[in-house]
Amino acid sequence: MAITILGIESSCDDTSAAVIRDGLLLSNVIASQKVHEEYGGVVPELASRAHQQNIVPVVDTALSRAGISKEDLTAIAFTRGPGLMGSLLVGTSFAKGLSLGLRIPMVDVNHLHGHVLAHFIRRADGDRVPEYPFLCLLISGGNSQLILVRNYNDMEILGHTIDDAAGEAFDKCAKVMGLPYPGGPHIDRLAAEGDPKAFKFAKPHLPGLDYSFSGLKTSFLYTLRDNLKTDPDFIEHHRADLAASLQHTIISILMDKLDKAVKLTGVRTVAIGGGVSANSGVRDAVARYCAERGLNAFIPERTFTTDNAAMVAIAGYYKYLDKDFCAYSSVPYARVTI
Ligand code: KG4
Repeated sequence: MAITILGIESSCDDTSAAVIRDGLLLSNVIASQKVHEEYGGVVPELASRAHQQNIVPVVDTALSRAGISKEDLTAIAFTRGPGLMGSLLVGTSFAKGLSLGLRIPMVDVNHLHGHVLAHFIRRADGDRVPEYPFLCLLISGGNSQLILVRNYNDMEILGHTIDDAAGEAFDKCAKVMGLPYPGGPHIDRLAAEGDPKAFKFAKPHLPGLDYSFSGLKTSFLYTLRDNLKTDPDFIEHHRADLAASLQHTIISILMDKLDKAVKLTGVRTVAIGGGVSANSGVRDAVARYCAERGLNAFIPERTFTTDNAAMVAIAGYYKYLDKDFCAYSSVPYARVTI
């Protein structure tokens, strides 16, 4: 009998539901919350209220786009953490209610596992997926991690950020440039028109595989401060060059450690995931790096880089196959690592 999983994602500010049948994606619906834009960041209380409004129509749409009814579901996978507690509570409670009502099992998913396992989402039988072990560079608004993935349930963090995440570096620098939240996509767009060598920003000298982005952020701020003294329209005049140089430095920091990890582990497959993996420069740099060394590169579709329920459904599918179910007594967790 077919195994049909409904995935639910509500960890931050996207309400999403997806249906996966026997590992193949049937639907993936994402309702993004615009309400946070005017505040320059996600407001947790507004996020949970919006999730409450969105979750029923989003799940309904995911089921109808998949061409199934809720009685066809085999199990429900949901993001249990990490994320915003109020947001997670909405998805978790909804999953519990639906699971109880339909008398089908629930599977809890670590959001970070979801980002890594997004590479296993297939639309058709022939679609290529990574072979284990592989290295995953997980870069989002809250995380920057280098993960050795031995299996869907066996992941080891080789390095992580000791301060800001790569996404935060994009977003915070974009904010001081007066760009809307989240700034990452705006920097990406502007960078295409600028000179990546126009400005030189600080890069960290950390041993090992850990990342740091706060020095870069400070050096970016100092560049603005120093230049604004003589040119009050400095940001306006150099928008594209600032964006291109910032992006160039972030990519260079990411790639240095990725290269180190590839050499250390000897893996032949490299994947990227998380919101920042939507960045054109990051995607090009990883693709080029792998092509030059004969490594297999896995660059996710842009829809699967930011928060989505398809990745939750696929992670849940593998756990379901292992009968790794979740109890009704389980509660969300705000913080957790791989
Ligand atoms: O994985 P994600 O959706 O969730 C969080 O961890 O919050 O990642 C969001 C992050 C934000 O920092 C956003 O600016 C960044 O991903 N991002 C990008 C791009 N698209 C999203 N950063 C750089 N370039 C992009 N094209």
